[in-house]
Amino acid sequence: MKSLRKFTGLRRLLAAGAVTLAAVSIQPLSAQAAPQPVVGGTRAAQGEFPFMVRLSMGCGGALYAKDVVLTAAHCVNGSGSNTSITATAGVVDLQSSGATKVRSTKVLQAPGYNGKGKDWALIKLARPIELPTLKIATTTAYNNGTFTVAGWGAAREGGSQQRYLLKAAVPFVDDATCRQAYGSDLVPGDEICAGFPQGGVDTCQGDSGGPMFRKDDTGAYLQVGIVSWGEGCARAGYPGVYSEVSTFAADIARAAAGL
Ligand code: ARG
Repeated sequence: MKSLRKFTGLRRLLAAGAVTLAAVSIQPLSAQAAPQPVVGGTRAAQGEFPFMVRLSMGCGGALYAKDVVLTAAHCVNGSGSNTSITATAGVVDLQSSGATKVRSTKVLQAPGYNGKGKDWALIKLARPIELPTLKIATTTAYNNGTFTVAGWGAAREGGSQQRYLLKAAVPFVDDATCRQAYGSDLVPGDEICAGFPQGGVDTCQGDSGGPMFRKDDTGAYLQVGIVSWGEGCARAGYPGVYSEVSTFAADIARAAAGL
């Protein structure tokens, strides 16, 4: 599967490394010392994105309700009772003693999910987490502009998972442009792309399931995407691919109500 493809050669690895170093070199030494989760990102401040959740299978997620996490279908195994997932919330540092950790009780994977599109899932928590939730886009009105992505995933292709939450800004990429990279692998109605033409900033393995979001006209954060897949990470000409939340908003709301 595309999302699991490893870099195809040393040249690409070196190129990716060079991009990462270039992006990091303008930052203060203290920031340089730490690896940067989300390729080309910077550290999120404690409390900056209070709805961010880390899931124990190695994915991200966002609080859709106080006791429901929205994540990616490819992060879960199917639907039904499931007490094996731990959600960690309320901290940028996953090792902080202040972290809130809550077990799952149920999982709902998008009906009809088969690895192409429909990459969303809900996880019901054993108890509510008292933190702000993230609203989801219910129309296409905000499927444009510059988005924020955040996660504890790899800082570069093949890199390790991260202790501290990082964030990055990535611009919208239209379907026609994104199709130039991915052809028929892209499901335009189900997926929305983001990234710079020259690469360098992207989500990566372990960020999956986490939100891509922006501010709406009232200044509130609104989730427009779910980290799904890409060819490698942060490669030039290969944007990140995200589930298009507005497409699934009604399905998500209905599923959450029935969880
Ligand atoms: N599928 C990956 C995961 O499970 C996310 C990959 C995102 N890749 C990208 N180039 N934006 O964590």
